[in-house]
Amino acid sequence: MVEKTLLIIKPDAVKRRLIGHVIARLEKAGFEILGMRMERLTPERALKFYAVHEGKSFLPALVEFMVSTPVVPILLQKENAVADLRTLIGATDPARAACGTLRQEIALNIQENSVHASDSPENAAIEIAFFFNG
Ligand code: CMP
Repeated sequence: MVEKTLLIIKPDAVKRRLIGHVIARLEKAGFEILGMRMERLTPERALKFYAVHEGKSFLPALVEFMVSTPVVPILLQKENAVADLRTLIGATDPARAACGTLRQEIALNIQENSVHASDSPENAAIEIAFFFNG
């Protein structure tokens, strides 16, 4: 089934000028880019985006990290997009990410892990609406 999903290029990748590299990896893997923008998140918007992690010890540091530079949300479409994007980026912790995945290649650590991807079709719809107004 053709699906839409959301990827965010995070501040550690923006700072290291890896935006183009990430986009090239996405296109090479067969994802169609339907939308893309740059946004400097406010702490309030970062907290809203990561509301599912409310109460987690890493949330304050995560919010501080996510507002440290603009981020690049990208709306993607492909057959089986949600699962295929999760496979492409690899595990949250780059130390555990499979060989050849984007995070294994460029992420710095479990927080500064270069990209975010929606983890289900339901969350993809919510996250796409968050950045692209539905
Ligand atoms: P992401 O896939 O965007 O989902 C939540 C984010 O929290 C995660 O990537 C990391 O950037 C960050 N994070 C920091 N510490 C942890 C942790 N211990 N477990 C999960 N996520 C973490």
